[in-house]
Amino acid sequence: MRTHYCGGVSAADIGNRVTLCGWAHRRRDHGGVIFIDLRDREGTVQVVIDPDTPDAFRLAEEVRTEFVLKIDGTVRLRPAGTENPNLPTGMVEVLTQTLEILNPSLTPPFQLDDEAVNENVRLQYRYLDLRREPMQKNLRLRYRVAKLMRDHLDTNGFIEVETPMLTRSTPEGARDYLVPSRVHDGMFYALPQSPQLFKQLLMVSGFDRYFQITRCFRDEDLRADRQPEFTQVDLETSFMGEDAIMKLVEGMIRDMMAKAQGVELPAAFPRMSYAEAMSRYGSDKPDLCVTLEIVDVGDVMKDVAFKVFAGPANDPKGRVAALRIPGGASLSRGEIDACTEFVKIYGARGLAYIKVNDVTQLNEAGLQSPIVKNLSEAALQAVVERSGAANGDLIFFGADRAKIVNDALGALRLKIGHEKGHVDGRAWAPLWVVDFPMFEFNEDENRWDALHHPFTAPKDGHEDWLASDPGKCLSKAYDMVLNGWEVGGGSVRIHREDIQEKVFAALNIGEEERREKFGFLLDALQYGAPPHGGLAFGLDRLVTLMAGAESIRDVIAFPKTQRASCLMTNAPNVVDEKQLRELHIRLRNPVGTDKAA
Ligand code: AMO
Ligand code: AMP
Repeated sequence: MRTHYCGGVSAADIGNRVTLCGWAHRRRDHGGVIFIDLRDREGTVQVVIDPDTPDAFRLAEEVRTEFVLKIDGTVRLRPAGTENPNLPTGMVEVLTQTLEILNPSLTPPFQLDDEAVNENVRLQYRYLDLRREPMQKNLRLRYRVAKLMRDHLDTNGFIEVETPMLTRSTPEGARDYLVPSRVHDGMFYALPQSPQLFKQLLMVSGFDRYFQITRCFRDEDLRADRQPEFTQVDLETSFMGEDAIMKLVEGMIRDMMAKAQGVELPAAFPRMSYAEAMSRYGSDKPDLCVTLEIVDVGDVMKDVAFKVFAGPANDPKGRVAALRIPGGASLSRGEIDACTEFVKIYGARGLAYIKVNDVTQLNEAGLQSPIVKNLSEAALQAVVERSGAANGDLIFFGADRAKIVNDALGALRLKIGHEKGHVDGRAWAPLWVVDFPMFEFNEDENRWDALHHPFTAPKDGHEDWLASDPGKCLSKAYDMVLNGWEVGGGSVRIHREDIQEKVFAALNIGEEERREKFGFLLDALQYGAPPHGGLAFGLDRLVTLMAGAESIRDVIAFPKTQRASCLMTNAPNVVDEKQLRELHIRLRNPVGTDKAA
């Protein structure tokens, strides 16, 4: 139908006849001459319709935004002074000979180049939203990233194997999406939270290097970086230790970023233990672009008069920590109050602070704060030394259960760091976080949970603590963090049945449940399972970071809202009684009935 893409017309085509198809992006009537910016996926070009071509001109008068047009015309240089240097096609225009309206359009619910459209409207008319240039760019970048990773893995001997979507639940920590079985009355499949168990089984089967770019499903509370269905670049290898696996995938990301965006990542990503990340940044996915750091001061607060600090300082589960803000003494009362409100989101009950006026005077004369009189000079000395505080700085404090302090100061560090420019100017800060604990204690349910998943191998020599002191066990897990986002995670797996049994025991998964849920894995581990390990990247998150988008919704063609619904198709939705009957399902609260009844 056409000879060129609209965005592909250039000065090289001057004098040539071209046929273009696309959407009327904008139409301007300049008294006697009509201009249409004709758009397709490659860009826009200015089309001129002159009254000298009366048929085309008459049709052009009818054209409205988003009409689909076909035009035939001659490329010419734009008259001097009317060039648009911001547009790749800005030097030229196409003088139309014939114009055809291929399809009219209703008036779109929003202007395509309006940047402030409500996201719900965008999601309802996603097919129009996706016509917009940033969305076209994002989805193309996503394709390119996936293609580069696939190529890299292919070159390195990985083969892609598909694993089932209809399966049984694997314990990855989220709730499952369930699919009722018609054939088996009362039974359900689960959609995979990840291909974890299958990829391990493929190692038992001898595939040696597997990968898959695949959808995963998790019914969890959604945030800006989470979707109920998302895409993993999932891989697994045999006979490789964690160091070799990390180097391999690091190479893939370096290669991909270089080819996709010309970004040079460091030759070896820095590595940091989980304990250090929590201690210095209050997070297991620290954003190293932000230069602020947290320091522990609990040991010097045990005997101080200020009970808010002394309490957590004497509690083995507590933490008292300080966050120094260089130049922070200039923060206004209002700004400090806003920070205090902000940390409440994370459960903090307050946000004590000290303004440092004169570091040589460790009392109310040099340090401005209502809490100073209740802290000993030795404590204040330690705070100043460890935080590195200087005159004009401000020091914030968190004192509570360690988790609350970490979450609160960790988030405050990022907020102030970005708002006040405490950043080192790097565009990209990759990091490996390693030496994770095997388990974390679940206070609510009074038991140990796997920090990664139950198939993660303990560090050599830590197996003995599985039974005696699970909290002490570290694992062979690693997370790749990019600018404060966990973009990937994996581990070396347990390949011996006896160790796997011990881990299940530590997780308090009983004999019967083990057989029932994981019998096939435990059996497979007894048929010559090779040492193996792998990792999965969150493709959506990687692309979001690379695109500079705010939410992973902006790199997914048809995403769900925070409430896990699709505003375009209206999924989820009711189904008819016949379908339910076939699936042996009777609803407790059919939609439209009084749920309280
Ligand atoms: P994990 O649960 O860490 O590991 O997931 C791997 C990566 O997937 C991304 N991710 C998500 N992205 C968007 N929305 C979500 N709801 C979501 N959940 C996770 C993250 C994360 O780093 N089977 C293991 C991998 C392994 O051990 O090999 C797994 O699934 O970027
Ligand atoms: P109070 O003695 O409760 O008036 O608190 C004195 C200061 O300590 C105030 O600035 C509070 O915001 C702060 N504060 C109270 N609880 C905590 C806490 N758990 N961690 C850090 N600061 C706190």
